[in-house]
Amino acid sequence: MGRVTASAPGKCILFGEHAVVYGQPAVAVAIEQRISVSLETLGSSSESWKIDGMKFDPKRHPHVQALRNRLWQPQQGAPNLKIRIKGDIPPASGLGSSAALSVAASAALRIARGRWFNTVEQPQQIDSWAEGYSSQFEQENLYSIEDQELNAHRKGEAGNALHYVSDESVVNLDECALLAHAVEAIAQGGRASPMDASTCAHGGIVLLSDSLEPKDEFLYTRRLKTPEGERTWHLHSISLPKPTKEVFLVIGNTGIHAPTAQQVAKVAATIEAHPERMKEIETIGLIARRGIQSLREGDYAAVGRAMTENQIMLQGLGVSCPELENLIRAAAPTALGAKLTGGGGGGCMVALTTNPKQTSEAIELAGGRTLISKFGDVGLSIDESENLPLWATKPNA
Ligand code: MEV
Repeated sequence: MGRVTASAPGKCILFGEHAVVYGQPAVAVAIEQRISVSLETLGSSSESWKIDGMKFDPKRHPHVQALRNRLWQPQQGAPNLKIRIKGDIPPASGLGSSAALSVAASAALRIARGRWFNTVEQPQQIDSWAEGYSSQFEQENLYSIEDQELNAHRKGEAGNALHYVSDESVVNLDECALLAHAVEAIAQGGRASPMDASTCAHGGIVLLSDSLEPKDEFLYTRRLKTPEGERTWHLHSISLPKPTKEVFLVIGNTGIHAPTAQQVAKVAATIEAHPERMKEIETIGLIARRGIQSLREGDYAAVGRAMTENQIMLQGLGVSCPELENLIRAAAPTALGAKLTGGGGGGCMVALTTNPKQTSEAIELAGGRTLISKFGDVGLSIDESENLPLWATKPNA
């Protein structure tokens, strides 16, 4: 029996949540907590997918359903799957659990079905693909809010002497992040930045900017038509100078379930009713720019100050809550800076600190559950793959 397991990290946002949906700059960091997705095929007698032993319900797992429509269409003969999801990222808490799930699941599905190429040499060379999703191709269908089944076989740019490969080499980070962004956008009513998806795929520290940043490593450009207009984000990976004293992230969970889609819709409604409040979004962008410069210089005290200022703006926008503020206040004396992370309205706060034990104790005393992470961890990993493919696709199915 074939099996594939892939995992991806969660994320914390240092600056720029919500404003990034409107095209402002932002930075997110991959954390040590992860989600892992395992796939196996089910016997032909089984009628539907199973997730963690239960019958698959597309309403409970909209991200998995949207990925199925893009990579595993039953009409094209895709076999039913048994999926196991494990991990230590609490759901709906601002730590990117749905993006981590989507990135890991899209990688596992891609390995499980393999990829058709026009030429043999280079699996990562997009112009040799006969099928797949990439920032280098036209993407409008991929983001379709109606979430219909798409033709799994997008034609690449090169010739047509087809070759099939089904091993780990066919995984492509741009493709996994792109698919994860598309399914996040569907779940968030068409308003989602690619921040969570790209950070969970690439790991480390990811910068989204409204311009190309020559000092950082360019990843790709993403575009999305949101209900408020077309957005463009240039994504980069930042490498930092080694800090003189090691810094950590301490995450405090309020335990309040806070779906991102609702918080994003709340900000959109505020701006629609009061267009002048776009100034606040722009101010978050200015704070993020300053924070990004401090990050590049390795000035973590200034990074912390920018995080704290960012929190004041998020509070003004109405996406914080008393429980988050309580944990942020508790962290402040031992931290360089603290703020909510993600959509807000509950979920988690994050503190940047050189004293993780003390900061964590202070948050716990104030009633939060804590997680400690180093500053930036590895991205997508393929943890297991045997007896591939799980679905031997045809070149022109
Ligand atoms: C969610 O982690 C961050 C938000 O900015 C939404 C998004 O970027 O899509 C609130």
